[in-house]
Amino acid sequence: MAEEAAVVTAEKSWVRIVTGQTPTNIAVIKYWGKRDENLILPINDSISVTLDPNHLCTTTTVAVSPAFDKDRMWLNGKEISLAGDRFQNCLREIRKRATDVEEEEKGIKIAKKDWENLHVHIASYNNFPTAAGLASSAAGLACLVFSLARLMNVKEDQGQLSAIARQGSGSACRSLYGGFVKWIMGKSEDGSDSFAVQVTDEKHWDDLVILIAVVSSQQKETSSTSGMRESVETSLLLKHRAQEIVPKRILQMEEAIKNKDFPSFARLTCADSNQFHATCLDTTPPIFYMNDTSHKIISIVEKWNRAETTPQVAYTFDAGPNAVLIARDRKAATQLLQRMLYYFPPGADADLNSFVVGDKSILQDAG
Ligand code: DP6
Repeated sequence: MAEEAAVVTAEKSWVRIVTGQTPTNIAVIKYWGKRDENLILPINDSISVTLDPNHLCTTTTVAVSPAFDKDRMWLNGKEISLAGDRFQNCLREIRKRATDVEEEEKGIKIAKKDWENLHVHIASYNNFPTAAGLASSAAGLACLVFSLARLMNVKEDQGQLSAIARQGSGSACRSLYGGFVKWIMGKSEDGSDSFAVQVTDEKHWDDLVILIAVVSSQQKETSSTSGMRESVETSLLLKHRAQEIVPKRILQMEEAIKNKDFPSFARLTCADSNQFHATCLDTTPPIFYMNDTSHKIISIVEKWNRAETTPQVAYTFDAGPNAVLIARDRKAATQLLQRMLYYFPPGADADLNSFVVGDKSILQDAG
């Protein structure tokens, strides 16, 4: 979603403002490990589902004005530094592609060459806990790139924008599309063939209901970035996973999604989450993202699925203890909620903090 506005001030100065909104995405075949840290090039393809923007999303307002003397950014109301390479890489790549903007009635005329000397202010809000393993960087960096591209009238398509968002945070490249999305790892050294593509759109397989069981909204101890660096350096299981397991799983997962084959989808999703956490344990020193409550959720779902003739729910955990539970339909989602409330009764010292429920959905673009 993007809204554009401009304010003309008395001193013939002006402000051009764009607001964008981007949902987060949850990987069902995980990205874990980079072959190039600076360009953010992964060691395997990954597949994710983009969530409903009403529940887990970032809203970013970007503004440009000749009155601004430097680039600045605020996250959830607090100013943060833009000095890091990741922000700078995204800003540079978007600025490079900026084109002319003319809004006669508002007195705004920006030529392509002017963008080099103009500064931006960025205000970003997450409607969910930051860095708690709920893929906040995915929504955040995707939204930053999307909104800046609108502000600077960048003409690139979503695939090219996804390659820019990738340089902000790997998983961000998948949030530029709705539905199921694949990040193709690419083979080139410059990263030109490492970008996201849509596998199926947001209308495909809309029976699925996604619930997030928030076990903890605390910031994780080991960030994804440093965790995957340590795994690449020390885990033999990760090498085997990237080279032997994931290439086959990606093909099977694409088939399962296209055919709406829930049993295969659930089997692959759970197996991939478990293998990702096994590579974390295989890292030296070992990384623990899940906790006892996460393990209890896995047991509950596994037992339930085995008791039915066909699986009802898939689980997946990113770099944190929170469970993402994908129910095959609304009936299974209702039963899942009932079971969760039974095993984790709400109360002052409850193991589960809350649930977020939502359909999978699309990045909305009103622009
Ligand atoms: C476990 O995209 O946060 O969520 O590229 O270093 O910013 P950087 O890492 P990030 O890693 C996400 C890892 C994951 C799996 C996934 O989303 O595929």
